[in-house]
Amino acid sequence: MHVFVPGGAGYVGSLLVPTLLDAGYAVTVYDLFLYGEAVFDAVKDHPKLTLVKGDIRDLKHLEEALNKCDYVIHLACISNDPSFELDPNLGKSINLDPFEPFVEIAKRKGVKRFIYASSSSVYGVKDVPNVTEGMQLSPLTDYSKCKAECEQILMKHKSEDFICCILRPATVCGYAPRQRLDVVVNILTNLAYNTGKIKVMGGEQLRPNIDIRDMVRAYLFVLEAPAEKIQGEIFNVGYHNHSVLDLGKIVKTTVEKTKAVELETIPTDDNRSYHVSSQKIADTLAFTAEYTIEDAVEGLMEAFNTGKLPNSLEDKRYFNIKTMKAVNL
Ligand SMILES: NC(=O)c1ccc[n+]([C@@H]2O[C@H](COP(=O)([O-])OP(=O)(O)OC[C@H]3O[C@@H](n4cnc5c(N)ncnc54)[C@H](O)[C@@H]3O)[C@@H](O)[C@H]2O)c1
Repeated sequence: MHVFVPGGAGYVGSLLVPTLLDAGYAVTVYDLFLYGEAVFDAVKDHPKLTLVKGDIRDLKHLEEALNKCDYVIHLACISNDPSFELDPNLGKSINLDPFEPFVEIAKRKGVKRFIYASSSSVYGVKDVPNVTEGMQLSPLTDYSKCKAECEQILMKHKSEDFICCILRPATVCGYAPRQRLDVVVNILTNLAYNTGKIKVMGGEQLRPNIDIRDMVRAYLFVLEAPAEKIQGEIFNVGYHNHSVLDLGKIVKTTVEKTKAVELETIPTDDNRSYHVSSQKIADTLAFTAEYTIEDAVEGLMEAFNTGKLPNSLEDKRYFNIKTMKAVNL
């Protein structure tokens, strides 16, 4: 089976693609490679891997590249609020405008499953103890609004032979060949390990996180699940609902196995807090996370220690906003 992965050269894709290859899938990555071409150095000669440098907005090129693919896992995105807000028109032109034509192309070309990476940020702020998939969405930012719109668009196109499924991931953490160091656990670990100091804003807010290895497993689960279990379904994928202060403490304790870390809390106006339930994916697909936040921190420490993440406090490729400021799309 052949999987088409737009955005596959990003953080999640950089671990997902080698995992798909290991599982026997053929994979085509379609990506602008905004964060570098070295992402797949370890697997680039794999006979089942095709790398296409292309823009999701270029529908003709996209259609050519999509040839003979059975599944789509759509990850291509301006993938956080600040990068989107840099130029909201550009963000919309990538995250929303090509989405429906892309879905239509995929359907026409015989793709059997279309899996879309949405985000748990589509819920906005919810006061309930457990945010579940059926709740009304209140996306607060343009980035999240585009995610919510794409969800609706995809569901319009589902049909007996075109299986559509949406994942709403929590914030991802841990090491991957294309590293993001602009997501909460990774930010804290980078600072703890490389400066010995972390600052936690506020602290009581609950934020769901998931280790990148579990995120990748979740994509494999939906790819391989019986069609009737995922058709038209939306799944939260966020396992660990810790407070931000707890995340800081976990990072401090884990990094302190090798070096001292100072933890300071400072007030914040950003009190967004949400507790996402991942019970549905557990009940439906028997998916539960296998990795803890400590595991994610340890993976990052190992990567720092072995020189896999040089210049981690400065290099723009680790920080989406810095890269987006530097490239001209
Ligand atoms: N990482 C997280 O914490 C997280 C949480 C929730 C949802 N998600 C979603 O999961 C997906 C993957 O996230 P990620 O962290 O790997 O993001 P990422 O920013 O690391 O990767 C996105 C990829 O999309 C590519 N891309 C951007 N614009 C493109 C275009 N016009 N044409 C082709 N490719 C383009 C980039 O080059 C990059 O390789 C995204 O859709 C994101 O919104 C991620």
